[in-house]
Amino acid sequence: MRMRKKRNLEPRMQRCAAVLIARGSPCKNLKEAAERFRAPLSFEAIFGNDHPVELEVGCGNGKFIAELARRSPGINYLAAELCTNVILTAMERVIAEGIPNVRFLNIPAEILGCYLPPESVGAIYLNFSTPLPGSTHERQRLTSGRFLSIYKQILKPGGRIEQKTDSEFFFEYSLEKYAENGFEVVDVTRDLHASRWAEQNIVTEYEANFTAKGLPIFRAVALLRS
Ligand SMILES: C[S@@+](CC[C@H](N)C(=O)[O-])C[C@H]1O[C@@H](n2cnc3c(N)ncnc32)[C@H](O)[C@@H]1O
Repeated sequence: MRMRKKRNLEPRMQRCAAVLIARGSPCKNLKEAAERFRAPLSFEAIFGNDHPVELEVGCGNGKFIAELARRSPGINYLAAELCTNVILTAMERVIAEGIPNVRFLNIPAEILGCYLPPESVGAIYLNFSTPLPGSTHERQRLTSGRFLSIYKQILKPGGRIEQKTDSEFFFEYSLEKYAENGFEVVDVTRDLHASRWAEQNIVTEYEANFTAKGLPIFRAVALLRS
C-alpha cells in the first residue's frame, strides 16, 4: 500500500536541515551516479569530532538508530533511507530527543559510495530490509552481491554488517551471499529473542510487529575479511 505524503512535508524537511546531509540522487540513472558522481563527506566537519562512524541502511522511522546513538555517545551514526516520508519521522525524532550524534542521508543505498569515503565506516546495520522474494528483484535485495560490493568499498578493513530479519528465506540467502563475497559470518541465531544477544538488542518498529505475531527473529554478524 502506498503511504500518503505527510502534511507540510517540505517545510518540515527544511526544519530538519541541520541533521540531513544528503538528499536525492545527482541523476536518475543510479548506476551512472554510482560510477561517476563523487561528493565525499567530511565526518569531522559534520560531527565536529573524529569519533568512529557507523551506518544504518533503511532506517525507517529511526527508533533503532536513536536508541543506538543514545547508548553509544562516543560513536557517530549515519542513517540512510530512501523514502522521504519515512526519514522525516526519524529526523524529527532525533531532533526532538536532542541526540547529537546522528545524521541522515535521504538517498538510495545504491549511491552510498558517492558520499561515504572508502574504508570510512566500522559497521553497517541492516534491520528488516525488504526480502523481495522471486528472482526478478534479486539485485534489489540489500544483501545481494551488488550491495555487498558497495558495503565492502565503504567498510573499514575488519568492519562488520549486523543484520536482523523475520524472513528465513532472506536470511539464508544473505548468509550465502556474505560467504561468497569475502565476509566471515559469525554470531548466527535463528531466534534472537531467546538468544544471548536478546538483552542488548534494540527492537525496531518492524521487529516489534513481527514479534507480536509470534515470529522468530533471525540475526547474523558478517565480518569483512581483511
Ligand atoms: C521493512 S522497512 C524496515 C524499517 C526499519 N529498519 C525497521 O526495522 O523498522 C525497510 C526500509 O528500507 C528502506 N529501503 C528499501 N530499499 C532501500 C534502498 N535501496 N536504499 C535505502 N533505503 C531503502 C525502505 O524505504 C524502508 O523504510
